[in-house]
Parts: sequence; structure tokens; C-alpha cells
Amino acid sequence: MRRVEFYRHSLTEEDIAAVGEVLRGIFLTTGPRTASFERALAEYLGVQHVVGVSSCTSALYLSLKALGVGKGDEVITTPMTFIATSNTILDAGATPVFVDVEPRTGNIDVRLVERAITNRTRAVIPVHLYGLMADMRCLAEVCRRNKLTIIEDAAHALEAVRDGARPGQLGQAACFSFYATKNLTCGEGGAVATNDPEMASALRRLRSHGMSKEAAGRYTERYQHWDMEELGYKANLSDIQAALLLSQLPRIDTQLARREEIARRYEAAFAGLPGVDVPQVPRSATSARHLFTIWVPPQRRDEALSSLQQKGIGVAVNYRAVHLLSYYRRDLGFQPGTFPHAESIGDRTITLPLYPGMSDEDVEAVIGAVSDLAAEWA
Ligand SMILES: Cc1ncc(COP(=O)(O)O)c(C=O)c1O
Repeated sequence: MRRVEFYRHSLTEEDIAAVGEVLRGIFLTTGPRTASFERALAEYLGVQHVVGVSSCTSALYLSLKALGVGKGDEVITTPMTFIATSNTILDAGATPVFVDVEPRTGNIDVRLVERAITNRTRAVIPVHLYGLMADMRCLAEVCRRNKLTIIEDAAHALEAVRDGARPGQLGQAACFSFYATKNLTCGEGGAVATNDPEMASALRRLRSHGMSKEAAGRYTERYQHWDMEELGYKANLSDIQAALLLSQLPRIDTQLARREEIARRYEAAFAGLPGVDVPQVPRSATSARHLFTIWVPPQRRDEALSSLQQKGIGVAVNYRAVHLLSYYRRDLGFQPGTFPHAESIGDRTITLPLYPGMSDEDVEAVIGAVSDLAAEWA
């Protein structure tokens, strides 16, 4: 039986050597490699500033804090996401207000955002699900009219473009993840992209306890006392992580091309398969193709997961709707039936392997396994 892992990174000997070089030097934490990575990523994204942090979770949290979002504030977001998105709103002391998603993409339905705005709403966090950006031009217009800030959860969407804009270009800030399975990875890591210099400075302070000087400044320049002017956190990116990211960055678009090829092969193979549907990518968008999901009948989903695993295919679920998880139901009072499209996707979704290192044989093995299932259901 051919085993197809859910994910395998594509790190090369050069990437490993780049980390070795940092390890042989003196400076392991946030320093020159981090600064180079931040500049390189800002250039790639076409934004003014990138601030490297320890995860997308901390990127979202620090962004909320930098904007002063807290107790008494509401932040609109989607329930079709990883828990980090809404958990950070709660961690900041604010209230997450969910709105439902578009049934064909799983992205936040921008038309519903306007109806959820109250006089306590401060910000909206759209999630660029699976790599397809939410309708940012439309959302930016709604937020401009209502004086709301957009923080993009771009954990899946580093290479994405929609209607000519990349993450960070229409929102106040875009948050990225370099978690172990992401398109660009250092195991754990994250970044915030922004065009606002004040937001970038606030994030730099907040990622290091609110200190007026980071380690590199403290040790490489003439010693000066540092001060603490505000309460921050410890969420900086290290030079070890940055070296790994910097080394991979030049090839992310080549890797995206392979992801796109695999995704199109899946889409062609699954078109017309009974009981198997796939999310849509609008023509005006380049998806970062982070995750490839199929949507199957809800009563078949869990048996399909175990059956695919038995056939040697790695699978995952991205995601069951956040508001139906125990904490959100029990402690925050959310009920089933509130966000029907998100709930329906959450009950039907299966994520298949999608990464540039997959061989054509791997791709065909996944297609074969899904087609066998569909044949059993017909
Ligand atoms: C949509 C989304 N947001 C946020 C996160 C959190 O990222 P991190 O693990 O880097 O904190 C993830 C992680 O998988 C994610 O998928």
C-alpha cells in the first residue's frame, strides 16, 4: 500500500546550512537575520513593514493590543477558522462576534458583516481560508464607511492575491503563520505585515515586553539603559527561525506553482464525482493553495476519514465550526443552527494532502482513494 503523508516539508540542505551558519555565530535571538527576513518578506508582499513574531496567534494578539482593542469591544470574525482567530479576541478581553460564511468558499460573507456592526465594534478579522483571500475590496469599503479596522488572518495566504491586492495592502495589518505545515515554515513562527509605521513600532515593542530596545540594539550598540514604557509580551522571532524562513522565501512561488498544479489535478478528478464537492476559487484570485479540502455528505464524513487513513492517505479536518466547540457552547452560550453555512462545511469537510514534494503517483493515489469512496456511495 502506498502511504501518502498528510504533509512533508520541502527543506533543503541549503536551508539547513543557513541555520547552521546562525548556530556557529554568536547571535541566536532576534537580530540581523530577523531584520533581513522582515525586509525580504515586506518586499515580497509589497508592504512597508513586517514584524517577525513567535506565531500567528501572537501576531493576531499583538495586533489587537497595538490597536488598543480590549474590554467592552466587539471584533467581528468567522466561525470557519482555527480557534486561534477567535481565542485571541477573547484573550485580548474583547468579544468575538461571528458572522456566517459564503457557502461556496467558506470565507466570511462580507454582506453579513455590515449587519453585525454595533456601536461597540472596533475591528473585523477576516480569515483567508485555505489560501483564498476574503473579498477584501468589499470588506475594506464596509470598514471605511463604518470606521472599523481590519486585521487579516492570513495564516493560509502568504502567496495570495485577490483583485490586485495582497494580504496587508488593504487591511491595517495581516498576520502570517510559519507553523510546521504552512507553505513557508520554521516549525513555529509568525509575522505581521502593515503599511502603518506606528503600528510596526508598537508591534516591535509589544513583542519584547514593551522594552525600548530589543536584544540586538542592547548588545551591538554602545550600552545604553533600556526602559519599559508599556506592558508587552514575549513573542519575538529568533534568528535561527528567520534564517530558515529567509532561505526558503525565494522559492515559494515555484512551490506555489506545484501546489496549483496538484490542486487543479484534484479539481479535475473530483468534478462530477457523486457526493464530492470542492470549494470554489474565483477567477479574480490567486489562491495560496495552502489546504485542499473536499466536502462530502455529513453522514459519510467521519467514516470517510477513517477509510482514507486505512488506505494510507493522511487526512485532517479544517475545520469544525469554532462556535460549536465545547468551550464556546458552554462558556459563551453559542448554539447549533446559528451559522448554518459554517456548520454545514464543518460537518462535511476533509482535508487531503497538498504539498510541493508530492509525486504524481502520490497525487493519483489520493485521487484513487477518494474515487473508490465515491463509488461505494453511488
Ligand atoms: C487560520 C489560522 N489562523 C491562525 C493560526 C495560528 O497560527 P500559529 O500556529 O502560527 O499560531 C492558524 C494555524 O494553523 C490558522 O490556520
